[in-house]
Amino acid sequence: MIVVPGPSSPKVGEGVAQIIGAKKVGVDYKNFPDGESYIRVAEGVKGEEVVLVHTTYPQPDKRVIELLLLIDTLKDLGATKVRVVVPYMAYSRQDTRFRDGEAVSVNTIFRLIEAAGADGFYTVDIHKELSLGEFKIKAKNLHATGVIADHLRGMGLKKPYILSPDKGALDIARRIGERIGAEYGNFEKARDRITGATTVKGDRVDARGRDVVITDDLISTGGTIANACKILKDGGARRVIAVCTHPLLVAGAYERMKGAGLDEVLGTDTVESEISKISVAPLIAKEFR
Ligand code: R5P
Repeated sequence: MIVVPGPSSPKVGEGVAQIIGAKKVGVDYKNFPDGESYIRVAEGVKGEEVVLVHTTYPQPDKRVIELLLLIDTLKDLGATKVRVVVPYMAYSRQDTRFRDGEAVSVNTIFRLIEAAGADGFYTVDIHKELSLGEFKIKAKNLHATGVIADHLRGMGLKKPYILSPDKGALDIARRIGERIGAEYGNFEKARDRITGATTVKGDRVDARGRDVVITDDLISTGGTIANACKILKDGGARRVIAVCTHPLLVAGAYERMKGAGLDEVLGTDTVESEISKISVAPLIAKEFR
């Protein structure tokens, strides 16, 4: 078995290869002057089973194209099997036709991945696990809650409360809460489907004197976390920490959350960023040992 770390997941891909003791094969990549993507697999893969690790952020559209080029090329070069690991699956929030005429983007992308020749698909904390039903090949969602909980356990939290900012991510809060033996619960969030603006309400959580950990699948603009953080700080929380699986952190997100009083923000390396202190490589590697 060989591991191919795609251009967007050099560290996680390397980590997976090291843990499972597999050879790593690199990818040469660049942009053509007109913006198109160039991809070249640097060594032969004929007759090999390949694990391709390639996330789809930043620049999700470009990353998706690279992913498709890589899958198809690996198969064309003679790989016997290409199992695809996409640590962060872009477009997974558009999993429903919320307004008439909208694309159900995640379904389109999944059909393309399968058509390109993927023999298996793995991702981490996808927005909705049900979306994987679009695949005919084996498709699996891995939960980062274990590695996140292990990290939180070492942080010396005082009277911790694990909070999901909305009902959608309550399962993440529950898994972490149960693993570290902390209370958990959720706020309520509403999103304007046209402007994308969110409002968060929470009156049932008594945050006084506690360290509250807000957990979410992803942080994009930081608006959700900032809104929840303000409520918690007004309610007397000692410290508010945000932890997410996918730290997209678009421009201004960090400042927005800090401005709301957030004490710390952490993420995993499904998206390799400055705050990606928790690695999902062991979690992925377990699937291929
Ligand atoms: C949506 O429901 C997701 O779980 C996140 O809560 C959301 O996408 C975060 O976005 P933002 O950081 O822009 O508020």
